Amino acid sequence: MSTGMLHLHNFLRWIILILLLISIVKSYSSWQSKKAFTKADGKLWLFTMIFAHVTLLVGVYLLVWGDLGIVHTTLPEGQSFMSIPAYRFQWLFHPIAMIIAIALITKGRGLAKKTIPDDAKFRGAFIYFLLALVIILAAIPWNAPLFPGMTA
Ligand code: HEM
Repeated sequence: MSTGMLHLHNFLRWIILILLLISIVKSYSSWQSKKAFTKADGKLWLFTMIFAHVTLLVGVYLLVWGDLGIVHTTLPEGQSFMSIPAYRFQWLFHPIAMIIAIALITKGRGLAKKTIPDDAKFRGAFIYFLLALVIILAAIPWNAPLFPGMTA
């Protein structure tokens, strides 16, 4: 179960990165060319947010019950997780940075429902999504397998 969840969490990164990139490019071009906000824009933002939230839920599961999660880990006697770089990253930096990024995605998507001019929606979403992307790129553990379970 834990391995499957880890693979799922790992794989979801690609879905989020692709959806986020498309959302950013489309928001920017629609903002610049003063296009009207369409149902398709709303759906794209909604899916970006849903996949981010699913990744969050799987991440919480891994953090607590994963093989290297809090429940199954016994730290060396007298050491705090803060003194071990791998745990400091996995238990603190990665979750906090990703939760901030997911909150930004949620804020950006929330603009779809606001009664504001369409160009303000696109401009705001562009900024929120771009910030989220920068944070996600910085907080992904790039040393983990890129496509888990797909190599021999
Ligand atoms: C956009 C959001 C996120 C992305 C793209 C992402 C991406 C990743 C990736 C690529 C890994 C490496 C997986 C592997 O070793 O195969 C990972 C590990 C991990 N992530 Fe995330 N993550 C996100 C959000 C979160 C959140 C919100 C949490 C916790 C609340 C979290 C907790 C963890 C934990 C605990 C691990 C290590 C799991 C283990 O090795 O047992 N992640 N994440």
